[in-house]
Amino acid sequence: MFAAVSETIGTSAFARDVSEGLMDGTRKTLPSSWLYDEVGSALFEVITLLPEYGLTRADAALLRDAAPEIVRLAGEPERVIELGSGSGTKTRYILEAAAAEQDITYLPIDISGAALSACSSLLGKLPGVSAQPLEATYLDGIEYSLRGREADERALILFLGSTIGNFTPREAEDFLDAVREKLRPGDSLLLGADLVKPREQLLRAYDDALGVTAAFNLNLLGRINRELGGEFVLSRFAHEARFDERHSRIEMHIRSLTRQRVWIGALDRAVEFEDGETIWTESSHKFRPKEIAAIGERVGWEMKRQWLDPDWGFSETLFSA
Ligand code: AVJ
Repeated sequence: MFAAVSETIGTSAFARDVSEGLMDGTRKTLPSSWLYDEVGSALFEVITLLPEYGLTRADAALLRDAAPEIVRLAGEPERVIELGSGSGTKTRYILEAAAAEQDITYLPIDISGAALSACSSLLGKLPGVSAQPLEATYLDGIEYSLRGREADERALILFLGSTIGNFTPREAEDFLDAVREKLRPGDSLLLGADLVKPREQLLRAYDDALGVTAAFNLNLLGRINRELGGEFVLSRFAHEARFDERHSRIEMHIRSLTRQRVWIGALDRAVEFEDGETIWTESSHKFRPKEIAAIGERVGWEMKRQWLDPDWGFSETLFSA
């Protein structure tokens, strides 16, 4: 594992993002990647089990049915590299199909060490699979994970669960371009992306009856308390899900229920909130199937095949470099 510096850098990067994101005078915002500490990752796993949130089940069902075909179209890859380590249930179908032919290496990449060790110890036990987790950013991780590869070894990159939706369409395109530049012709990318669906369905999925998504969102304030000496009283804030139809994205916000000032020790300052002011904590873009193909093709990927789940509205797209 490339463990090293993430503890110290991680904390100060968090402090920097909190400081920049909550500065007065500007629209408050925090990057969604900070939602996934140990508590947040556990809450997200619960979200994937909720009746209102069909995304992960649709993703898993598509992969279960298409895994042998995906592996064949990807040219029987020896290295399977996953961006974001997830719980591993979905990935298992792909690894089993790939390892049915030959021994393979599974390289999950995540900036969170906790998520990584859970999924790689589980999936590394599958017959024919050896796991090599990498604690790194996605692009650095791809680079490490391809070091020393033989001329005839193929790689398959997995980017599942619609994490791509956390990027703006523009960022998504730049990211897919940067990924392709690290690969060789014949390598593949499997991209899971959530599709546009009715507003009501989306609002239910991102504001569930049990309040798990609310807890997931508000945990960001809890994390600031725990890691940065923040003094947020969580009951003075509320979760909010919004659908922006024009940008085709669902958003999570945290609304301050009162005018208040909150001390954050590590920043040595207080943050001011107006009554009703919000912090924007996540955007989750919803795609049209053709749009996904177009984004990849604009930056030099060739689309091989696309699988759609019509019930929930989810897609898997296989691209070739
Ligand atoms: C893991 C980014 C795909 O956008 O649906 C779930 C995260 N946020 N509920 C998503 C999430 C609120 C999720 N992704």
